[in-house]
Amino acid sequence: MSDRLLMYSELASWWPLMSDPADYAEEAGIFRDTIRAYSRRSVVCVLELGAGGGNNALHLKRDFCMTLTDISPAMLAVSEALNPECEHVLGDMRTLRLNRRFDGVFVHDAIGYMLTYDDLRAALRTAHEHLAAGGAALFVPDFTRETFVPSTDHGGHDGPDRAMRYLSWTLPADAGATSYRIVFAYVLKDGSGIRGIQETHQFGLFSRLDWLRALREVGFEAYAVPYEHSTFHEGPREMFCGVHP
Ligand SMILES: C[S@@+](CC[C@H](N)C(=O)[O-])C[C@H]1O[C@@H](n2cnc3c(N)ncnc32)[C@H](O)[C@@H]1O
Repeated sequence: MSDRLLMYSELASWWPLMSDPADYAEEAGIFRDTIRAYSRRSVVCVLELGAGGGNNALHLKRDFCMTLTDISPAMLAVSEALNPECEHVLGDMRTLRLNRRFDGVFVHDAIGYMLTYDDLRAALRTAHEHLAAGGAALFVPDFTRETFVPSTDHGGHDGPDRAMRYLSWTLPADAGATSYRIVFAYVLKDGSGIRGIQETHQFGLFSRLDWLRALREVGFEAYAVPYEHSTFHEGPREMFCGVHP
């Protein structure tokens, strides 16, 4: 499970050096515009599930009042440092119940950690339970079964007193598989030298039809939305919007 992953526990403080908050400006703008476009109410307060280090929230908070939730206390701490003015709540997106309704709900790549259809539906139900009538929930999986492509990637950044680089290897999914794996090699450089750590993350892989069915089953009007970003060289991906009728 993701709460046992090093990246979101012992290594969480390295997250901003793996994924620079400044790099999220383009996508956060797309997410903001999509939530507004599908919403039938004015969007003031947005709940984010699996907000991680708060990199999207850094940009979204300029337009929305953000409540940020995550299953990892260490990742919440990273986000609290970046977004001290936002409310932070510890919770699993499958079971979280704040007993409040928001104008919008947002779930970025954290939705990928839902490995089964039942878990996916539980997370969508959480979103539905926290949405006011006419509100829109936006879900942004890295891939659906239709858009999935194996690949490699690398990145990382220098900080003032330490640096991180990573290589990621998105492995081919077996035929008919409902999940895929990314093997990460993290290389950490600090005062004590350079060390490497390898870790495998597993992600759910659902078809567009599964996504739309799960959204409808929990009570949403369901929409598949093309998602184009300047770094997607394999073509557009797809995100999903649920509107609370
Ligand atoms: C890639 S990070 C998210 C980064 C985020 N998009 C950002 O803007 O910084 C994935 C996050 O999903 C969280 N996560 C995984 N499973 C979860 C669950 N069941 N409920 C809530 N958060 C979860 C992890 O703890 C991790 O912080």
